[in-house]
Amino acid sequence: MHVAVSGKQVAGSLYLHRDAIAALEPASRSEIWAAEALANTSQWNVVKLRHSGEKRISLLTYEDFERPFPALLESVTVNLENRTAVRRSYRARANPPVLHRKELLLPADHPRRGEYGELTQALESMGLLQETSSIGTRLSWEQRLREAGVKVVGHAIERLGEPASQPEVTIRRHLAAIRRDGLSSPVQALIRHGLIDEQTTLFDYGCGFGSDVEGLQAAGISAAGWDPYYAPDQPRKSADVVNLGFVLNVIETPAERQDVLQSAFALAQRCLSVAVITSSRARTETCRPYGDGHVTRLGTFQKFYRPAELKEIIETTLGREAFPAGPGLFFVFADPLAEQSYLLSRQTRRSTTSVTVAARRKAAREAAFEALRPDLEAIVAIAEDLGRWPAPEELPKEVRHGLEEAKTSIAKAIRLASSLSDPEVLEQAAKQRQEDISVYLALNEFNRRKNYRDLPERLQRDVRALFGNYTTAQASARDLLFSLADTDNLCFAAQTTFGEGLGFLDEEENYWICAELISRLPAALRCFAGCAEKYAGGFDEMHLVKFHLLTGKLTIFRYADFDLSPLPRLELRTKIDLRRQRISDFDHEDEDQRLVLKSRFMAPDQTGFERQKRFDAQASDIGLAELGVRATGSEILSVSEAAGRLPRGWNWSPITPR
Ligand SMILES: C[S@@+](CC[C@H](N)C(=O)[O-])C[C@H]1O[C@@H](n2cnc3c(N)ncnc32)[C@H](O)[C@@H]1O
Repeated sequence: MHVAVSGKQVAGSLYLHRDAIAALEPASRSEIWAAEALANTSQWNVVKLRHSGEKRISLLTYEDFERPFPALLESVTVNLENRTAVRRSYRARANPPVLHRKELLLPADHPRRGEYGELTQALESMGLLQETSSIGTRLSWEQRLREAGVKVVGHAIERLGEPASQPEVTIRRHLAAIRRDGLSSPVQALIRHGLIDEQTTLFDYGCGFGSDVEGLQAAGISAAGWDPYYAPDQPRKSADVVNLGFVLNVIETPAERQDVLQSAFALAQRCLSVAVITSSRARTETCRPYGDGHVTRLGTFQKFYRPAELKEIIETTLGREAFPAGPGLFFVFADPLAEQSYLLSRQTRRSTTSVTVAARRKAAREAAFEALRPDLEAIVAIAEDLGRWPAPEELPKEVRHGLEEAKTSIAKAIRLASSLSDPEVLEQAAKQRQEDISVYLALNEFNRRKNYRDLPERLQRDVRALFGNYTTAQASARDLLFSLADTDNLCFAAQTTFGEGLGFLDEEENYWICAELISRLPAALRCFAGCAEKYAGGFDEMHLVKFHLLTGKLTIFRYADFDLSPLPRLELRTKIDLRRQRISDFDHEDEDQRLVLKSRFMAPDQTGFERQKRFDAQASDIGLAELGVRATGSEILSVSEAAGRLPRGWNWSPITPR
């Protein structure tokens, strides 16, 4: 128990301003100084102490207390028992948590305590501090003030004047809907990720003209939809998957967006997909600013989201983690098993190894049950995919039927199938699957811990077959996490992968690769990237990744035209320092930094690889390789001009004398 003369109590924790800790008992003060030393920071101004006897202390950095509602900028939570510190930055967030009733944190004799307290009382008397769950972040708090027709200036409440700044417009939301020829991108993503198929139901919330519903029904998938304008009489009903496609961004008020999100999620039995137009795709030249978005010439409203902003809004509204699944697209799971299956499928290394058909054919000649061969081969193919022999329920219906007809038990069929399989291929597949599971469990360590019985059935089988038991699997996951501190191990993984022709290793032991190829990397590098991705809240819309193998950092790069240009222009660089737990963003929008020899970071089966390789071969002849990985447009021009060539689209043209 902490003895304190002031402090704000929230959910079993005590929040105190730095100036108020002198009133704490000496033992609590010593713990705070120990936490500060472990956190290696002196920036904080608020401390959060837990009552439960837990040895965890959070050091919080809020904006200046002179502001009426300071926003949270950074938190470091220190575990004094195992001496770890977890740092979280809120600096880049559009919608950070904000502090109310801040006077409670200050010492009783603080000179401004009275003034701050009066503001709190005035807000309370207007009922604005009720329903604390919906005022904790900046956007919803500002919205609540606006709705009450007031603003806070200094520490005084002022009435808002007539909304003269808000132009008189009639928003015509429904005009935002378009007739689609094919399925929308979020629905395509749901199919790609295996979240909808013939066995599942989908409900399209805000379905517009209903093109997705029609397209899915035509493909034999059970789909229905509702739209307040186009299909108002259709029932709003539950389904395995609910699609909220490009609806949030046509709604003008944040509060209604939250309601819609909640209503759509309430219908989702497994998963909700939320898609919006992102700010990188915003076309606002012909629009007028309105609220927190724009009104188009047609009279439709458009709020263009930054991906991190949408993630945060979904998470604060629904209290669930939102997983990035594409530009402006997030999946949120109502069913924990569906969430685990999805996460596991994302961690599954996409194999490029082809099955050794020749070896299988050779063994097949010796097989006694020629008639069963198609079924046995199917079993082998499944085993090579799973890294273990399948359980009966993992066999397709046709195979089970074939075996029944031939009066062969599944156990016997597996024995026969093993004579058709190449043990090396199976061993390799098992190893790969073990790696997949270790990466998955390692990254799961950052989430809530998962009990064995919470794992999807398939994963439970994997764990039993490939590790023997869950404890061994978890130990392997932890070994993998610890191995990330071993730079030799990381360098070896990168050198091997580079040697196999994937990615690029530079002379300073940095390993570079296209972000979309991460799933092809060995476990250590995947896990490294996965940790950074968790820490940064997703690599959405990023194109290139640089592993700083010697220093435990990772940089991700976003380009304006990665797929469209042979020399893509850098927009944003984010550096994630896993050891110090820091994230820094570097904006390059106003510069002309170009990525040189892009094919080095690509895989031959990626779209545009051949074209890029041809361009890069000539670029190397000209001498561009000397420039390193990135160079300014003018550096590139001066090297190429010196060689008598200029880049024109995907070619190098000779400079013709005038
Ligand atoms: C850009 S369209 C998207 C339609 C469809 N989901 C698609 O992807 O083609 C936006 C749709 O949201 C609908 N909408 C507007 N307000 C809504 C609300 N509060 N709840 C659900 N849908 C809404 C509009 O009628 C419009 O059809």
